[in-house]
Order: sequence, then C-alpha cells, then structure tokens
Amino acid sequence: MQTIYYDLRDTKGQQKEIEDKISAAAKILREGGLVGIPTETVYGLGANGLDGKAVKRIFEAKGRPQDNPLILHVTGPQWLPRYCADIPPIAYVLARKFWPGPLTMILKRKPIVPDETTAGLDTVGMRCPNHPVTLAIIREAGVPIAAPSANTSGRPSCTTAQDVLEDMNGKIEGVVDGGPCTVGVESTILDLTCEPPRLLRPGGLPLEDLERLIGHIDVDKAVTTPLKEGEQPKAPGMKYRHYAPKAPVTVFTGAPDASAREIQRRVGPTSGVICFDEYAHLFQGQEVHTLGPSGDKLAQAQRVFDALRTFDSSSVTEIYAQCPDNRGLGLAIGNRLKKAAGFHVVEADSHRIVLGLTGGTGAGKTSALNAIRELGGTVIDCDAVYHEMLENSQEMRNAINAKFPGVFDQDGKLNRQKLGQEVFAQKDRLAQLNEIVFGFMTPELDRRMESAGDGLFAIDAINLLESGADRLCDRTIAVTAPTELRVRRIMARDGITEQYARLRISAQKPDEYYRGKCDCELNNAADTPEAFQAEAKLFFTRLIETITEEKRRASK
Ligand code: TXA
Ligand code: MG
Repeated sequence: MQTIYYDLRDTKGQQKEIEDKISAAAKILREGGLVGIPTETVYGLGANGLDGKAVKRIFEAKGRPQDNPLILHVTGPQWLPRYCADIPPIAYVLARKFWPGPLTMILKRKPIVPDETTAGLDTVGMRCPNHPVTLAIIREAGVPIAAPSANTSGRPSCTTAQDVLEDMNGKIEGVVDGGPCTVGVESTILDLTCEPPRLLRPGGLPLEDLERLIGHIDVDKAVTTPLKEGEQPKAPGMKYRHYAPKAPVTVFTGAPDASAREIQRRVGPTSGVICFDEYAHLFQGQEVHTLGPSGDKLAQAQRVFDALRTFDSSSVTEIYAQCPDNRGLGLAIGNRLKKAAGFHVVEADSHRIVLGLTGGTGAGKTSALNAIRELGGTVIDCDAVYHEMLENSQEMRNAINAKFPGVFDQDGKLNRQKLGQEVFAQKDRLAQLNEIVFGFMTPELDRRMESAGDGLFAIDAINLLESGADRLCDRTIAVTAPTELRVRRIMARDGITEQYARLRISAQKPDEYYRGKCDCELNNAADTPEAFQAEAKLFFTRLIETITEEKRRASK
C-alpha cells in the first residue's frame, strides 16, 4: 500500500488546496481507511471510531494488543451525549475549561460505540485535540476518530510526521503533516466514572490544573509504580512496557545537580545519556540527547520521546536519564521515562532536602532562615561563601584575575574597591564577574552539602535564580512582604530615613519578579519578626512533608 503524504504544516496559504487535502483525509477515514493525524500531544493513527472493521486495522498496523482500548477524538462537548451515557456535570465543566486540549475523559459508553474501539469495556475515552487541521478533518468526516498514538506498539510515541512514516509507511492510507507536536507527551487521562475522579495517565494537562478546578483527584497506582504479576491497571495500556529503546534505561530523580552527579559516577564509554542542557558538557565522551533546560518542562515534554526514539537506533549498552520533579508537566515526563526504564529508578538525593530562599531586603528572610535553623536545618549564606572563596579558592581567583587584571595586589590580597569600581560602573563587567563567580559557586555549595551529609539545608542567596544555585534545590521560595511594611522594617533595623529605605527597595528586583520565578512564596505580613518566624516554621514543616512524600514516591 502506498501511504499518501499530505503537507498541512502551513494553513495560511492556498485555502482551496488546504481544503482539498482535509477533504481527502476525511474521505479516507469515512471509507474505512487509516490516516496518521497531528495533535498537540503526539501524532495519532486515526480510523472511523464507529466502524469496527476500520478500527481493527489500527490494531494490526500498530501490532497493538487487542485488550487495549482507543480514545475517540471529537470536536467539542456537544459530541459527548452521542457516544456517552450518564455523563456527570463535571465532564462539561472540564470540557469547557480544557477543551480543545490534552485531556481525555473516561465516561460510560453508549452501545453505538463498537467493542473494537473500547476493547469490550463499558467505558470510552473522549478527547478533543487542540490542532486546527485534525479538528477540521473530524468535522469534515462527521464521525468520531478513534486514534491511538501512531507509533508501532512498544516504541516511543511519534511527535513528527516523519516519525509516523518511519513506523507506518506502507501500512496506512495517509499521513497528514501538521508540524511537530507542541506538547510532546500524550493527553492526561481522567476517569470520571468513579468518585473522586481518578488520574489514569499523567499527560499534557498538569494534575494541579485539574485539581484547581475540581478538587482532589486520586492518582492510580500504575502511574508511579510498576504493576505486580497479574495485576490489572484501570487503563489497560498502562501495563505494557512502553517507549523502550533497546538498551536498558535507568532514571535518576532528585535535584538536577545531584542526579547529574550520580550519572557521572556511573557512565562508561558505551553509555548513553539523556540530560538537561546545563549538564551536557559533563558527558563529552558519551552519546548524549538533551531534554532542554532543567527549568523548562515544556521543552522537556517536547523532546522526551525524540530522545528515546533516537537511542533506538544507537549501539549504546545502557542509557542513563535525568528526570524532572513531579510537578506540572514533570509528572508526565517522569512517567514516560520511568516506563521506558521499566521503573528502574535511582533517587539521587533521597535524604537531602534543599530549600532555596531569595527575596528583597526587609521582607523577612532572616526570620525565615531562623525558622529553618529551629527545624534543625543548616543555612548556607551565599554571600559568606563568596567572600570565603575570594580568599581561598585559587581557581576562582585565577579566573577573576584573568578577566580583571590588577584587582589582586602583589601579596595576593583582593583590592575590593578596585573590583567594585569596575563592576558597578559597567553592567557587562558585572555580568562577567557574575558568570565566573556563579560557575564556581554552585559546585562549591553542592560539595559543602555533600560533605555535611543528609538532612535539611537552606541556601540563602539574593542571586539564587540567576546563579543556577536553584538547580540544587527541591524548592525555591520567594520571601516577600508588602512594600510599606518593608520600608518601616528597614528604617527601624538600619536606622535610616524613609526616603533612603524606599530608595534601597526600589533599587532591588520587585516582589513580582521573585514570585513569578520561584516555586512558592512565603509572604510576610506579620506584625513582629517572632510571629513571622512561627508562621515560617509551620510553612516549612508542611513543605518538608510534601517533599519527603514526593521523594518517597519518586524512588519507588
Ligand atoms: O494524546 C493522546 O491521548 C494521544 C493522541 C493521539 O490523542 N493518544 C493516545 O492514545 O495516547 P493511546 O492509545 O496510545 O493511549 C490511550 C490510553 C491507553 O493506555 C488505553 O489503555 C487508555 O488510554 N484507555 C483508552 N480507553 C480507555 C478506557 N475506556 N478506560 C481506561 N483506559 C482507557
Ligand atoms: Mg500510545
């Protein structure tokens, strides 16, 4: 069979030509054929979901086990009552908010949906994909499109039309190219036939977004743990070994610096590495696929399948993969990596908890750090570490001397005034100094915590986010406070005028900056430092509980 390629990457061009291609794809589907279709998550392998014979061909083309049901793709909530029974009102609440988008809802099915589509279950998965081309194809076909991910069963999912051709060329009637997928991991699957709703598969729509709208959601065990012999997951597909390259995969969880270090300990000449961009330079002798910056989960989601796919045709003997934390898209990315690894997971820093604190002057960082000390934590003051390193770290001193000749005098003493004059007069000189200092600082902080052993640490740094020290942290926390309170506090603390206090605050980054970039915020509106310290202690206690629970789950 010849697979026809329809290029629909550009939908702004010749409208007639575009409509013709969409009609052609819809026609194939209506007549019982198979078409690879783009969605925002991954490419799907579509067939008319009401045509049992057509659906059967999907299973043959993919080599998919017969007991694994398919999702029906529709163009909006108005399609739900045609195929689903006993629809709870919450389904419409969710659809209104998140459709079109990466959410699949499991609902009771009506008899019109054939057994081939649902693999005999009395429920059916419903999804409205957020891709204009596929929405137009479904509308034109006038039938719901049953579509699993377009990969051969067991292989990583396809995020480009080229991937689909690699797996399906000659086996299906057509492939529609709608460009690379913008989300990169499959839809989130939520079972609405139980109470509370249950997450069967984490995906492109974060669990937190769902819970914010509808409250608590149970997370199915199959999401985070391997199944025992004979155990049946609620989403049949979750039981199969998935996404797996030929070489065995080991996944490393924990703060990115710690997981990179663990991988570094293990790599040999024939190991492959999947890591965040910042760590690629550590693995120069290895075949490396990067996932994107450690702080950019959307980039990681877009690249995770490609990284796994590429290793499929490589001769590495084992693959070590860095894994993001479980928050936001991280839960889905981690789930795909762990499934590829058969849940072979190493928790890199299971007994260390690192909190990064940052924020402007007068907000209450000192009280917050006291609360950490009360909880038995060790506080690392980056400013102090910097000054120690200026004295003791020959490497850092050499690096500074190379860029700022003459700032060290003959007997090696730093002329602070001279350095200060240079960097405060010129922004790019300050950036150069920071680049040097930050490069030495983060590994030094890591070493200090390593040699201190397990336990709780707080990193206190005004430049926490700029220096990269946030990559050592389980959570970054913005300590903020209303400006008027800050003004009064600084005046009392430092015995300065109101005008000068305001000047100092306005010379710093605003609270919104820290609030927007940190994982969480600790806002200080308390009347006294003691009251704030008590509040902070409670806040950290809860946060530490959450992180401990996360680490426990991640390492299982
Ligand atoms: O993002 C996605 O959802 C992509 C694109 C193409 O839409 N589709 C996709 O389909 O990932 P597939 O077949 O690769 O994965 C569907 C998963 C399987 O694990 C299957 O077992 C589960 O959904 N599933 C489908 N219908 C179900 C049902 N009625 N009850 C429980 N799980 C179901
Ligand atoms: Mg799949």
